[in-house]
Formats: sequence, C-alpha cells, structure tokens
Amino acid sequence: MFTSSTLSGSKPEQYAQLLAQARALMHGERDRIANAANLSALIYHSLAEVNWAGFYFFDGKELVVGPFQGLPACIRIPLGKGVCGAAASSGHSQCIDDVDAFPGHIPCDSASRSELVVPLFDGSTLIGVLDLDSPSLARFDAEDQAGMEAIAQAWLDALQ
Ligand code: SME
Repeated sequence: MFTSSTLSGSKPEQYAQLLAQARALMHGERDRIANAANLSALIYHSLAEVNWAGFYFFDGKELVVGPFQGLPACIRIPLGKGVCGAAASSGHSQCIDDVDAFPGHIPCDSASRSELVVPLFDGSTLIGVLDLDSPSLARFDAEDQAGMEAIAQAWLDALQ
C-alpha cells in the first residue's frame, strides 16, 4: 500500500523526495500506462495548488489524453496548439504564469490559471507531454520545471 508522505525542506529538496517516490513507484515496471497513472496520482496528491496532473500521448498525428488526475479534459490536441502542443512541437518545457495570456491556450478546467508542460521525448521521438495545471497564477517556477523534468525523465527511463 502506498502512503503519501509530506514533502519537506526547500523546493529542490521536496522535488528530490518526490523523484525518489516516483522511482520507487515505477521500480521494475515498464508499462507506460501503469507508470503514467501512478505518477499522475503521486504528483496530484503531493503538490499543493494543482488541479490537474497527467499525460498526453502522441499517436503519430496529435496528442491524445492519457492517465491523469483532475476533471475530465479535452481528448485530442493538435501539435502546436495550446500549451501542450507548444511543448510537444518545440521540445521545450512551457512554464506559463497566466494561461489567459497564452495565445491558443486550450481551457479544460476553467479554474486553471497557470500551467507547466514538460515534453516527453525518447531520443528524437516524441512520446507525449506531462501536464500540470494550477488554479493559482504563476504557481510554477524554474524549480518546479526542473523538478518535473527530472520526474518526466524517470518515467522515460522506466520505459527502457
Ligand atoms: N491547457 C492545455 C490543455 C490540456 S488541459 O490543461 C488538461 C493546453 O493549452 O494545451
């Protein structure tokens, strides 16, 4: 049984603890759906002020919603559209302080105010994105981005 433990210390220390929990959850498991489902739940229940946490997978044409926690979300996102599509097509994480100021933002939960999206690449192959939404403006900063990029890499490593 998994018991979520409270993260403590500085934000980088908290992300180090979260990364260790993520690695432990995925240990010995390569199934991407299973690991994405557990990671979504871990992130959603560990981080404050997060109203959506989950994955979109690239099906060869567009992004399709995968395992997540939060309200039901839009199912398909074309590359280059929205924050998720921007992360996927640019290959760079998108840390958006105010989603209403992001051209083409796709609102799924109307409560969302800021967003962090990390692209998932296996080498040069696009796998999908890891997406976090917050009801607070500017919820995510560079430390959150680095922390989530490390967790995303752990998920990618588990596929191998
Ligand atoms: N806001 C995202 C869409 C996905 S939801 O936030 C879950 C976007 O603009 O790509």
